Amino acid sequence: MFVTVLLLLVALSAQGGHSEETEEAQRPGHVSVIIVGATGDLAKKYLWQGFFQLYVNQVSSGNTFFFHGGGLSPADKGTPVLFEALKAVSCSKDVSQERCAVLKDQFLRLSQYRQLKTLEDYQELAKHIEQQLQEEGMTEAGRLFYLSVPAFAYADIAEKINSSCRPTSGAWLRVVLEKPFGHDFRSAQLLASHLGNSLKDEEMYRIDHYLGKQVVSKILPFRIENREFLDPIWNKHYIERIEIVVKETLDVTGRIPFYDQYGVIRDVLQNHLTEIMTLLTMKLPKNVSSNEEVLQNKLQIFSSLLPLAKNQAVIGQYQAYKSEVQQELNKTKDHVSLTPTFAAVLAHIDETQYEGVPILLTSGKMLDERVGYARVLFKNDMFCLQKHNGIHCKPKQIVFYFGHGDLQYPAILVSKNLFKPTLIDGDWKEVTEHTDVSVLGLSVSDYYVQTPTEQREAYAELISHILAGRKNSFISTENLLASWSLWTPLLSSLASSFPRIYPGGVDNGGLLDVRLKGRDISYNSEVVIISPDQVGGTSANNYQVMQGKFRSADMVSAWAEELVERLAVDIQEAAEAAVRESGVFHLALSGGSTPLALFHRLVLHHFSFPWRDTHVWMVDERCVPLTELESNFHSMNEHLLQHVRIPYYNIHPMPVQLNQRLCVEEDRGALQYEKELSKWVNGSSFHFVLLGVGYDGHTASLFPGSKVNEHGERLVALTESPVKPHQRMSLTFNAINRAHRVALLVMGKGKHELITQLSRVKDNLDKYPVTGVKPDPGTLIWYIDYDALLG
Ligand code: BG6
Repeated sequence: MFVTVLLLLVALSAQGGHSEETEEAQRPGHVSVIIVGATGDLAKKYLWQGFFQLYVNQVSSGNTFFFHGGGLSPADKGTPVLFEALKAVSCSKDVSQERCAVLKDQFLRLSQYRQLKTLEDYQELAKHIEQQLQEEGMTEAGRLFYLSVPAFAYADIAEKINSSCRPTSGAWLRVVLEKPFGHDFRSAQLLASHLGNSLKDEEMYRIDHYLGKQVVSKILPFRIENREFLDPIWNKHYIERIEIVVKETLDVTGRIPFYDQYGVIRDVLQNHLTEIMTLLTMKLPKNVSSNEEVLQNKLQIFSSLLPLAKNQAVIGQYQAYKSEVQQELNKTKDHVSLTPTFAAVLAHIDETQYEGVPILLTSGKMLDERVGYARVLFKNDMFCLQKHNGIHCKPKQIVFYFGHGDLQYPAILVSKNLFKPTLIDGDWKEVTEHTDVSVLGLSVSDYYVQTPTEQREAYAELISHILAGRKNSFISTENLLASWSLWTPLLSSLASSFPRIYPGGVDNGGLLDVRLKGRDISYNSEVVIISPDQVGGTSANNYQVMQGKFRSADMVSAWAEELVERLAVDIQEAAEAAVRESGVFHLALSGGSTPLALFHRLVLHHFSFPWRDTHVWMVDERCVPLTELESNFHSMNEHLLQHVRIPYYNIHPMPVQLNQRLCVEEDRGALQYEKELSKWVNGSSFHFVLLGVGYDGHTASLFPGSKVNEHGERLVALTESPVKPHQRMSLTFNAINRAHRVALLVMGKGKHELITQLSRVKDNLDKYPVTGVKPDPGTLIWYIDYDALLG
C-alpha cells in the first residue's frame, strides 16, 4: 500500500503543485511527521488541516511523508477519532475536486494513529520509521514532532524523543512546541533548561501563531520594500504613537482552569503583541532571511525597552468571569479572582529613534468586536479650517490589519496622505475596489490597500516554515527569556491589583478607554456611582459601587480605587455644604497608610476642593518630632497639605512636642489641642472625621484594653499603643462622636478577618474600640473595599 501511494505521489508531482518551500527545504527525502496529541482540539481544528496543506504543496517537491497521529489512548480508541479529524481536511480553491479527492485519499492512507505514552511506545515508533525507510529504500530527510500537549508534558516527551527517536545519518530532528512556555521568567528558564537537556536550540520550534498570520509575517518585508519612504519618518519626530490591538468578543468559558492561571497579559501580550512590537521597531536586517541577524536585532529592541511599572498598565475583568471561575473551578460564592481578561500596557523604547513614542499594547475578551491590528499613527501638522474632503486633513497612518473587524480581510493599509507603497511580493495584490467601510477613522478609499491573493491559516503557514527550517518565524530561547524578563516585573507588581470590572460587549461603552500621559496610562472614565435603589438590580452599571449596611450603619463598598474615588467625592460634597452654610469646613484626618490613596485622589482630581476655607485637624499623632517619617503629620504634609492651596493657619498639627520633649503629661499638650479645637470648631463638632481601624480593632489612637472610654468629657488625650512608638495623642470618643459625619475607611485583604468579626460582635469598647464610634446626632458611614469585605 505504501509503495502504491509513493508511486501516486510521483505521478501527481508531474501535474505540478504549489511549492513555496522547495528551494529552502534541505535535502529532499522522507519526512516522518509525528503529532503528539493528535486528537486534541488544536490538532483537530488546525494541525491536520495544516499538514494536509503541507502535503498538497509538497507533492512535487521530491519529499515523501508519513504522518503518525500520537495519543495516550490505545489504538482501537484513538484510530476512529483521528479518522474523523482527517476526514474534515479540505483543499484550497485552486485544487480541482478530483485532484482533491485523490490527495485526501492518499493523505488518509499515509496517516496512522499510534499510542504514544511510554518510552517503549517511542522506541516502537522509531523502529517503525526505520523499517519503513529500509523497506522502501528511502533516504531520510527528517523527523518532525509536533507536541500539541500541555506544557507540563514537554520535558518528559522531549527526553523520550531524545533517547529513542533521534534520526541517524544526518537527517534533521525538529520538535514543535506550543505556548505557554512558562508562567514567568523563572519558570520559562526552568522549562528551557529542561528542554535543553534533550534538544538543541536549533531543534526546537516554539510556535507563536501570530508570526504565521500573513500580515504579521509581512511587517519586515513591507518595511524593507518601502524603506525609501519609511526611513525618513520611522522615528520620534514623525510617529505620534504605535497601537497594537487584539480585541475579542468571546469569553473564556471552558478554558478557565488554564486561563485563570495566566490571564490576558501572559496569554496574548507577552507573546503575540510583543512579537509584533519587535517587528515594528527592530532595526531592519540586511538580509531578512538571516535567522541570526533577525534574532539579534529583535534582542536589541528587548534590551532597549524601558522596564514596565504598574502605572504603565491598566487591567480589567469581564463581569461574568467571576461566576465562571466559581463554576469551573468549583469555588464558593465569595471566591474572587484577580486574573485580568483585559489589559492595556504602555511601552517605551529607550533609543533616540523612538524616544517618547508611546507603544500601546492592548487586548481583551468580551469586547465589542473581533479585530486585530497594529497601527502606526503619524503626527499631522495640518490645520484645516473648513469642512472639505482634503486627504491632508485626515489621520496619517499605516495599519497592519490582521483580519476580521469591519474590513473582514487581512491587509496592509497606508493612508493616501503618506505615500504609495510598493507591493510586497507576487502573492499580494492591490485592492482598488472597496465596499464603503471605515478603518480606524478613515474611509478605506483613503488608503492604499494591499492584501494576500489567497488567505491562508497561520498554522498552515508555520507548518510550511517548519519544514523549510525557517527559524525566523519561531521563538528562540533567548527571545523568549528576553520577553519574560520584560513582563515578569509588571506581572508581579500587578499580582494583587484589582481589575476594573466591565460588563462585556457594547455595554462596555467608554469604560475601558485609556488615557496616555507621559509614560503612564490610566482609565479615562470616572467610575459610575450608582444610587441606592439600583443595588441588587441587574443594570450594567451596578457592579462598581455597592451600598448596604454594616453594624447597623450605612456602608459603601467597591474595589479600592472606586471606593477611594467615592469617599473623595463625599468629602468634597460635605466641604462645599459646610462652606455654604458656615463659611468653614473642619476636617479631622487619621494617620497610617490607608488614607494615603485618598490624599492622592484629593490632590490629583479635586481641584475645586474649598481648601481655602478648610481647617485640617488631626485624629491622632505619634509622639515623635513632626519631621520624622513616622509622624502622622509628616505623612499628611508629604501626601496632601504641601500639594494643595491651604492657608498655613488652617492647619492644626497636634502639639506632641513641647518644651523640647515629647508627650509629657505636665506639658499639657492634649489640653492645648482641646482648647484650640473648642476655640475654632463650633460646639467642638467637626464636620467630617476620617477614621481607620487597625488589625486589633483600634481606631484613632484608642487601643483595646486601655480603658478608652474613661476620658469622659475630654476631647483630646494622651494614650498608649501596644506597638512602637507607644505614646500617642488622640481624639477621644467624646470628640469623635460629636462630629457631623464620621467615615470609617477599611481596605485590604488583611482586614477581612477583622471585618468578619466586627460584623458579628456586639459593642465592646474594651476589645474592639472601633465599636465605640457612634456619632450622635451625626452619621457614621463605613467605606469598606471588596478585599476587606470579601477576603
Ligand atoms: C491564543 C490565545 O494564543 O490567541 C487565545 O491563547 C486567543 O486566548 C488567541 O483567543 C487569539 O488568536 P486569534 O488568531 O484568534 O486572533
